[in-house]
Amino acid sequence: SEDKLYIPVVVHVIHRGEAVGVGTNISDEQIVSQIKVLNDDFNRLNADASNTPAEFQSVAGSMTIEFVLAKQDPDGEETNGIVRVRGSRTSWSTSNDGALKATSYWPAEDYLNIWVTNLSSTLLGYAQFPVSDLAGLEDADDNRLTDGVVIDYLVFGSIDDGSFDLEDDFNKGRTTTHEVGHYLGLRHIWGDDDGACGGDGDYVSDTPDQSEESSGCLTHPQTTCGVHKMFQNYMDYTDDACMNMFTQEQVNRMITVMENSPRRKTLP
Ligand code: ARG
Ligand code: ZN
Ligand code: CA
Repeated sequence: SEDKLYIPVVVHVIHRGEAVGVGTNISDEQIVSQIKVLNDDFNRLNADASNTPAEFQSVAGSMTIEFVLAKQDPDGEETNGIVRVRGSRTSWSTSNDGALKATSYWPAEDYLNIWVTNLSSTLLGYAQFPVSDLAGLEDADDNRLTDGVVIDYLVFGSIDDGSFDLEDDFNKGRTTTHEVGHYLGLRHIWGDDDGACGGDGDYVSDTPDQSEESSGCLTHPQTTCGVHKMFQNYMDYTDDACMNMFTQEQVNRMITVMENSPRRKTLP
């Protein structure tokens, strides 16, 4: 359908006890900058949409969706959609996923939960796939208490404080665009095929067959599997500055997931 999707968002900042705006306790401005990146990227209002190569412009997809920081908390009280809690650990990995999310959580039927924290090593973020009948989502976790995305505080938002090497390549907020793509049912563009061409790929018909992930910033065109790689896609692994598109079929897949999901897609 053409209906606009509204996604109420809660950002849980699981910090290490710093003052607001310092270290892991990222500022409200940084959070607002990330919401803008999501809205720009999913609606294809991103300033770098013109960097999409000419041959991919016709398949570039735009969604009619608005991510909105929640204005009501689960009790119906006024909120800015940001919850700040000092965590019980100084760093978190996927093996601490349940404990991280239990620190602060709002019902996944009503909100997109985004946890921002200090992830261990070089993990930038991760997501839980939605429960769906669509091919490629058989391994979805149906635990509502862990539904949402987790993002490292260094790569959340697009305000660059220039403090950390890793951040330089991932400072435009596209890690969250990528993880919300997973949350809405998208697989990696190369289908996690590990070097093989063909196969099921990403279950999306208008993304070119790709056998492995891309990284860094490449020059277009790059040919693998006999076609030009769409390394500009948000579901590849290139640097933030070099990704600028979803495809129309990726958008259709995300809309199908939302239409068949118990998750809220209107404002309360
Ligand atoms: N490694 C992460 C994942 O697989 C995120 C990659 C994000 N890439 C980026 N350019 N920000 O979900
Ligand atoms: Zn991914
Ligand atoms: Ca494909």
